Formats: sequence, structure tokens, C-alpha cells
Amino acid sequence: MSPHSVKGLYMKKLIFFFSGTGNSLRAARIISEALEGAELINVRNDPTECDAKDADVIGFVCPVYEWDIPGRMKEFMTELEINPDAYIFMVATYIAVHGKAFESAARILASKGARLSYARAVRCVASQCIAYPPFPPEKLMVPLMEKSMRKTASEIAGRRLRKYPHMSWITRSLFPTMMLPYLNVEHEYDKGFYTDTRCTGCGTCMRVCPTKNIVIENKKPMWTHKCHGCNACVVYCPAKAIQFKTPEAYVALGTPISRRLGLPEKRKRYHNPYIKARDLF
Ligand SMILES: Cc1cc2nc3c(=O)[nH]c(=O)nc-3n(C[C@H](O)[C@H](O)[C@H](O)COP(=O)(O)O)c2cc1C
Repeated sequence: MSPHSVKGLYMKKLIFFFSGTGNSLRAARIISEALEGAELINVRNDPTECDAKDADVIGFVCPVYEWDIPGRMKEFMTELEINPDAYIFMVATYIAVHGKAFESAARILASKGARLSYARAVRCVASQCIAYPPFPPEKLMVPLMEKSMRKTASEIAGRRLRKYPHMSWITRSLFPTMMLPYLNVEHEYDKGFYTDTRCTGCGTCMRVCPTKNIVIENKKPMWTHKCHGCNACVVYCPAKAIQFKTPEAYVALGTPISRRLGLPEKRKRYHNPYIKARDLF
């Protein structure tokens, strides 16, 4: 074992992750391995019970949602106590527009006297499988994702410094009209979910939900309107029993962006092929 490995073993390394369809957890796992076993902590947990005050390496890994980081990730980061002198990294998985994701994270860290040492956005398969089919096609995209996750992980293991990307002026100017209306009704997304006769009440949906939005009542899931629209409940249901119709609040917003962009109507339940439901519990 090299001296670097020995030093690595005695360092406290934590990675906090949010993941709906597994892409971000896959990235977090690859980074954890490169860091010789950083502890992975789901942001479903209570941040006040996580001790990052003496951590040497602290990572945040999550998807981009509506050109930002998910609300739960923001809440968690805000409440978490950290060592501001740690090597802090942020990896966001996304499809095309990262928007203000890194700016939001940097702002929260700045309020704690900390800053991002390294940031990178990693392109992945789209997880809005309810709105449109996973794209780019999994077969093509998954090997590319693996490659860029490994590159990112090796840069982080080497403690590389990398400035975070800012929101482009065009995205900034489109945000109020294109994203804000969706963000305002996001919590109601779960009004579109319902179960069919295949539901056994097994509770997998409740356990994979990153916002703890689901409770099981009379052996059926009930969504409690703290939804981020991550689709974990749909794609990890072992019986494929969770279905979706567009909720009223979204219908009221007019033609969905997916249709405006001419994306095909065909749906598929995508989740990262390396991540199983149990990994998210
Ligand atoms: C509700 C929702 C909103 C999303 N918004 C964006 C976005 O604004 N920009 C983007 O590039 N990708 C967006 N995506 C795609 C995800 O960021 C991407 O597929 C990510 O890898 C999913 O990570 P996960 O598998 O860990 O949940 C969105 C996905 C969902 C479900």
C-alpha cells in the first residue's frame, strides 16, 4: 500500500448525494471508490445528525432540476455543519442546462465561510421519463457517462481545483418564464401519480423517495405533496404499478416543453443500470 493510500485511509471523507433515477448515486459511488472509500450519505437523512465538522473531504452530488439543484439538496446543505477548510467538491448530473446549480451551492457554502474547490457537471441520460423518453439512448449514453464519471473521480482523488460554471446570460434571462412557473407547482407533481392493481404495498416507493414524500396507508402509497418530480417511485417500483397522468397544475401551464421541443411521446422507465432500489434506501 502506498503512503498516499495510508494517508487516504485516515482522512474523513464524506459524500452527500441526492438521486432519483440513480445517475447521481452512480457518480457518487465511482468518486467514493477513487477516494478509497468515502462514506456515502443520502440527503434523505437528517443533516443535523451528520458530522462533517471534522471532515477533510466533503462532496455533494446531485442532479440538476429546473436549472438549479433540488430543493432538498439546498435544505440539507443549509442545515449541515461543515469544516470550511475541507476540500469541497460538487458534481451535478444533467442533460443539457445546468443553469444556476453551482451558483446556488456556492452561495450556501459561502454563508458557512466555505468555497467549492472543484465543480463539474456530468452529462447523463434524462430522467424525466414521465415527460419524454430517456435520451440520449441509454446504450449510447451509459458508457459515455461512466467515462466522464471516472475522469471526474480521478480529478477529485488528485485534489484538482476546478472553478464552478456560472449560469449563462441567456439561461438567466429565460429562467423567470421557462422554469419558475414549473418550480412554483413542482410540489404538486405527485398529484399525477396513482397505482394500478399490480401494487402490493411493498413500500419500495416510500424507501427510495429522496424527499420522504410517500407514506403507505392501507397497503397503498400516498403522496404528500413534497414532490421534486424525481420519478424514483415510478422507475424503482418492482411491479411497475405506479402510473402517471399530468396534474391539473401542469395542464394549466399549457403545452409541455417536451411537446414544444417536438420530443417523441414514447415513455420508458429508465434508471441507471448499476443502481438498484436498495442502494437508495
Ligand atoms: C424534475 C426534473 C427536472 C430536471 N431538470 C433538468 C434541467 O433543468 N437541466 C438538465 O440538464 N437536466 C434536467 N433534468 C435531468 C436530470 O438532471 C438528469 O437526468 C440527472 O442525471 C438525473 O439524476 P438522478 O438519476 O441521480 O436522479 C431534470 C430531471 C428531472 C426529473
